[in-house]
Amino acid sequence: MIDLSGKRALVTGAASGIGRATAALLAELGAAVVLADLDAERGERAAKEIGGLFVRCDVSRRADCERAVGAAVAELGGVDVLFNNAGIIRRSTVTEITDEDWDLVMAVNVRSIMLLSSLVVPLMAANGGGSIVNTGSGWGIKGGGRAVSYCASKGAVVNMTRAMAIDHGPQNIRVNCVCPGDTDTGMLAEEARQLGESPDAFYADAADRPLGRIGRPRDIARTVAFLASDAAAFVSGAIIPVDGAGTA
Ligand code: NAI
Repeated sequence: MIDLSGKRALVTGAASGIGRATAALLAELGAAVVLADLDAERGERAAKEIGGLFVRCDVSRRADCERAVGAAVAELGGVDVLFNNAGIIRRSTVTEITDEDWDLVMAVNVRSIMLLSSLVVPLMAANGGGSIVNTGSGWGIKGGGRAVSYCASKGAVVNMTRAMAIDHGPQNIRVNCVCPGDTDTGMLAEEARQLGESPDAFYADAADRPLGRIGRPRDIARTVAFLASDAAAFVSGAIIPVDGAGTA
């Protein structure tokens, strides 16, 4: 049984999907949770249902990240767990993508982790340690078609996880990465929209996948909860696929 009582967690992308499910599970396991997201309406609603505090935050902007971390410090007294999860996708090849979309994907998926971690690491270090979990992707390990900026960004997330784990291990800060495969969230519908396909395409072959289904947000949340907990005290620099045997 994972016990997170006494832990203070900051979760990004917490208004929906994997972030929301993780914020809910961390709270169920006893953590105090700050939910950060761009989407204020859904974020406020999620925070109310979960029993956490919502902060509107564009994770690609330093001032917003400072406000989110500031709120966690003011309301909870610090941050023991940072879940860098907010992310976006653009379904395009290298010849299709615009400069603006490339920069946006990199800013939201990668720069955000640098910004938030740079603010949270000193707090964790002063408090004797902490746990940072980044959301990568199966496509950050093996790539995927027509998502070049996304694959580049998630590859960066995977490798910066290892770099951060090496740099901050001496401060007792563990840094790990979960790499979901296809997971049933709004992102799949958004991908279908960008590709001009029916969202059903993502679910059509679900029964043929090794575990007979695609991922559910709670599947990822359970892994994050473990990594956040003291049960994972010697787990750092780990890149963990949560994909039911390769469904990405
Ligand atoms: P989602 O679309 O349900 O959730 C993403 C959340 O991030 C949304 O609430 C959105 O408002 C928020 N967000 C977007 N831009 C933001 C910004 N600039 N600042 C703050 N919040 C922002 O999608 P999902 O699936 O829950 O995505 C979570 C993470 O999981 C992402 O990093 C995604 O790349 C990753 N992932 C998802 C997979 C899937 O199949 N759903 C597969 C592999 C990775």
